[in-house]
Amino acid sequence: MQYIGIDLGTSSVKLILMEKDGTVLSSISKEYPVCYPKPGWSEQNPEDWFRQTLVGLAELIAAEQADKIRIGGIGIGGQMHGLVALDGKDQVIRPAILWNDGRTQEETEFLNTVIGKKKLVEYTGNIAFAGFTAPKILWMKKNEPEKFYSIRKIMLPKDYLVYRLTGTFSTDVSDASGMLLLDVQNRRWSKEMLEICGIREQLLPEIHESYDIIGYVKPEIKRGLGLSQNIIVAAGAGDNAAAAVGTGTVENGSCNISVGTSGTVFIASDRYRVGENNAIHSFGHANGKYHLMGCMLSAASCLKWWLEDILKTGDYQGEQKGIKGAANNRVFFLPYLMGERSPHNDPNVRGAFLGLGMDTTRAQMMESIFEGVSFALKDSIGIAESLGIEIKKTKLCGGGAKSPIWQQILSNILNLKIEILEMEEGPALGAAILAAVACGEYATVEDAAKSIVKVKETIVPEAEMVEAYQKKYQVFRKLYPAIKEIV
Ligand code: XUL
Repeated sequence: MQYIGIDLGTSSVKLILMEKDGTVLSSISKEYPVCYPKPGWSEQNPEDWFRQTLVGLAELIAAEQADKIRIGGIGIGGQMHGLVALDGKDQVIRPAILWNDGRTQEETEFLNTVIGKKKLVEYTGNIAFAGFTAPKILWMKKNEPEKFYSIRKIMLPKDYLVYRLTGTFSTDVSDASGMLLLDVQNRRWSKEMLEICGIREQLLPEIHESYDIIGYVKPEIKRGLGLSQNIIVAAGAGDNAAAAVGTGTVENGSCNISVGTSGTVFIASDRYRVGENNAIHSFGHANGKYHLMGCMLSAASCLKWWLEDILKTGDYQGEQKGIKGAANNRVFFLPYLMGERSPHNDPNVRGAFLGLGMDTTRAQMMESIFEGVSFALKDSIGIAESLGIEIKKTKLCGGGAKSPIWQQILSNILNLKIEILEMEEGPALGAAILAAVACGEYATVEDAAKSIVKVKETIVPEAEMVEAYQKKYQVFRKLYPAIKEIV
């Protein structure tokens, strides 16, 4: 059989067609816009996701490698935490409020101080962060009460796609974990959190494990795609859990770093655990277990901003030519372009270049972006280590992971071996794997990942650079406290 994996990202939807043995036969990507209506706000039109997914599906199925009658199922991974609200007629009430939207500072503060972090952790395993879904629900209640009271369904972005494709109102544990409405340890909605947010359980989807079959593609969509057999749809996963499956990060203690629009450090865990200071998230994993995750809001997006918006170039490779990765760059970059989640939980802070001189070059400024994003990822690794988790190596995925010089800088800054994989599709591959497991091609997600995911190359840290970057990191750590009040 063949399986389709969909990754509903922030800048585009990526679709892959996978043979059951894991061979990726073709892949397609379709873009859509993000809208920033006010500083720190970030929204998208869910209709764009659905329309572009249908265009992508049609192209993927028409591709020469596709064997229409052997397509068995679809798995979907997607950007987490976004609030999609539908009314009684199944119409989207307002644009989706995305994971990197920082408007809920007041609501986040209310949850963390008035309800209190201790109670939140008891109910959900996590404290409130501005991008999580529950503070967004409270924001709507206060600022758009008419719209709030017309809500009949609350969904996450990939669950909206699942709903449009199948008519089934469902979610999965990994994605639901990021709503601050789920009792993560027990994998069920938290009655206390629903009460705090003023919503009834009927507004929320049914919870499944990522590899469960939740429904079938609607007949009219199948007809439009020229398919006649039943196509199952798996519950799917949040994009980070899907990426972890697609990079084989399923064994206890294994680590994956994603350098995409966001930057995440994902650590699989067989048991439920909560960090002392809650600076990293405690979520369910797509294999039925758990994970810890640190998330920075702007990673490869800092590079995109710098090159495309500021320098007005699309020449990513050319611009990297002058970068040496020699740890002697005096420029610092703080990557807080949309505020920051892990570890600072500060939606108001903004980014900065520091240490500029008349001799500063264009290449040094770009190199400082590679370094700044890597240092911010190191912040999350440090928190995981402070919980007694020993990380020796990591997998890597996401657009930023494709630059060899950035890979080496990251390895040197984190002092970790980085495994580069044969197939770079990350979340889309993981989503296709979940569909294959749902169809019974593999007994477990672990079995599937073991047989499908292959390491192509290992990047090894260079001792001299590790030491030099360690010194630079000590300075980097002083910069957030120094600038947080002024930018
Ligand atoms: C994770 C997070 C981001 C988004 C990006 O908590 O907010 O990684 O899932 O799509």
